[in-house]
Amino acid sequence: MKLEQVLVLGGSGFVGTSLANRLAERGLRVRIPTRRRSRAGHLLPLPTVDVVEADIHDDTALEQLLDGVDAVVNLVAVLHSPSGKPYGPEFAKVHVDLPRRLVAACDKQGVRRLVHVSALGAAEDAPSEYLRSKAAGEAAIRAGGRKLAWTIVRPSVIFGPGDHFLNLFAGLLRFMPLLPIGGAKARLQPVYVEDVAELLASCLDWPEAAGQTWDAAGPRVYTLGQLVEYVGEVSDHRGLVIPLPGPVAMLQAAVMERLPNSPLSRDNLRSLQKDCVVEGEPLPFGSEPTPLEAIAPLYLSPQRRRASFFGSAQHGREF
Ligand SMILES: NC(=O)c1ccc[n+]([C@@H]2O[C@H](COP(=O)([O-])OP(=O)(O)OC[C@H]3O[C@@H](n4cnc5c(N)ncnc54)[C@H](OP(=O)(O)O)[C@@H]3O)[C@@H](O)[C@H]2O)c1
Repeated sequence: MKLEQVLVLGGSGFVGTSLANRLAERGLRVRIPTRRRSRAGHLLPLPTVDVVEADIHDDTALEQLLDGVDAVVNLVAVLHSPSGKPYGPEFAKVHVDLPRRLVAACDKQGVRRLVHVSALGAAEDAPSEYLRSKAAGEAAIRAGGRKLAWTIVRPSVIFGPGDHFLNLFAGLLRFMPLLPIGGAKARLQPVYVEDVAELLASCLDWPEAAGQTWDAAGPRVYTLGQLVEYVGEVSDHRGLVIPLPGPVAMLQAAVMERLPNSPLSRDNLRSLQKDCVVEGEPLPFGSEPTPLEAIAPLYLSPQRRRASFFGSAQHGREF
């Protein structure tokens, strides 16, 4: 199948921005819906990218977005939801209902290629509502029928300029020389955003990707505590990481989830109760994952941040 036009749901976000750049570089036309056009302003300079304001939770709007499209990538996700069993309503709407409706809309519009991004650790019996709802979303995609060539990609935590993860700790360490954290012993295998974007873009081309579920991780495993200490070193704000015992960490998260734009919830903490690492190859087909140490200093070290500010002012690039 010749690929000309791709719909990227969630394309204005962290991973979506890297993917949109990659697809545009390949000369593909890319349609990106957003709830608010101002959130996707950074994509407007890309010549083949069309940003449209749309409500993807409306069936008619979703079908219109799929009109004339050869393939779709779904990157939409939320980190917080009011609680519920087996998962809360916002997780149900975004992680489960949306994939289910997307599969039905693809069927109706004759779109045959779908790449869906889930998360490493997603499982029906996972400790967090986030991961349980992600597993239900995967099941909805797999139930998509024989006409749909789907691929599911399950990344570990993702790093890169603009990430929600290392940047969060860099921001906290700037003001808190003593940093109490929960889940300090959780094991993670961070993967570079460009490696994830390359995998997603390749999935659209590879016929052998159809019907596959692939994990995506980096070359090394770290504990969360080690990662936070590393962020302190690189950003020149070395702090003392204080691992909190489980119940105290839950109490801290319960307080933090009441803050506007909460950086942490009890459900996030539960996601850390299971290691977020892969059993075998970190990326499919033996691709070499990029080491964290090769990239993180480029956007976390104070010298590089200053240089990138002036660089981006001149060249419109992040670094
Ligand atoms: N980042 C990580 O470390 C990580 C790790 C594992 C898995 N993943 C998965 O990778 C995918 C992409 O993650 P990301 O970090 O790029 O996410 P992100 O930066 O938060 O972007 C998600 C996008 O989804 C859209 N969105 C969010 N909530 C929505 C809602 N309620 N209704 C409609 N649209 C909504 C937003 O678009 P608008 O605001 O423009 O509407 C946003 O640009 C997700 O499936 C995530 O679960 C990420």
